Amino acid sequence: MKDKIKNISSLEELQELYTATFGKDGTMTAKLKQMAKLSNEERAIVNTENTQLRQLFKEKQSELENIALNSKLAGEYIDVTLDNEPENHGTLHPLTQTLKDLTGILESFGFTLMTGPEIEDDWHNFTALNTPEYHPARDMQDTFFLLNGNVMRTQTSAIQIRAMEQNGAPIKIFAIGPTYRKELDATHSAMFGQMEGLYIDKNITMSDLIGTLRALLSKFFEKEIEIRIRPSYFPFTEPSVEFDMKWGDKWLEICGAGMVHPNVLKNCNIDPNKYQGFAFGFGWDRMTMLKYGLDDLRAFYDSDIRWLKNSGF
Ligand code: PHE
Repeated sequence: MKDKIKNISSLEELQELYTATFGKDGTMTAKLKQMAKLSNEERAIVNTENTQLRQLFKEKQSELENIALNSKLAGEYIDVTLDNEPENHGTLHPLTQTLKDLTGILESFGFTLMTGPEIEDDWHNFTALNTPEYHPARDMQDTFFLLNGNVMRTQTSAIQIRAMEQNGAPIKIFAIGPTYRKELDATHSAMFGQMEGLYIDKNITMSDLIGTLRALLSKFFEKEIEIRIRPSYFPFTEPSVEFDMKWGDKWLEICGAGMVHPNVLKNCNIDPNKYQGFAFGFGWDRMTMLKYGLDDLRAFYDSDIRWLKNSGF
């Protein structure tokens, strides 16, 4: 009997043998029924046999169940290392990635995102920025004019004005979006991305501007960036500066900035004797080219999938 149990190789057979032994008409059941007629010694033998057989059945059952489970697992095995059909995953456009990165950084500095229209009126794009009609500085930007006198905004600085008109001071905002100028070559596109920062409060100084720019650039390029400032001219800042950034062994012109001109504050009904602050503006297409080592700005707007795939994104 013991050998019989040991040699069984399926759960069904084991079940059959169990029924034949311990079932209603089972051999062991019959023996147990006769117990009353047996001597003490004989009883002890039957009892031992009973316990041993039950134990054997139990062991055999779990052994067979294990085998069944293992063979099921082996049958369902998936080879995750197998080669698959290459899939065409979409990726973010490099400019979109930069936009997200810069937005995240400036928000972490406490700046709030502001938006404005891409078709601007003369007031927001020029006049309120201390650049009235016939001001020679209008020549700094080759502007697309619309027939009704509006312009394709030439600079996100227009959004500074909208923000101050709406919110007054103190104010700490940034704007990011497309701007338009009549120029086109490998490093200039008629449509390009500008980013603007504006921070007006009672005690804002040039060193806040310098600290903000250094931190912004270092975060964006993910390494310590060395900067220097040079005097410059913008009608809406006084003093005005240009930020250069050390890139390899070269200094690159990267960002226009300065302390917001009192006339600009007055144009937005902010008292320049109480409030002052800084503004900065830069092209983030250019930043993207630098960060990812690209040399032709025009490729950003060609929508050539092969280029996008090979540009490291
Ligand atoms: N708007 C300027 C430009 O387009 C950049 C700038 C922004 C300069 C803010 C100073 C302050 O060149």
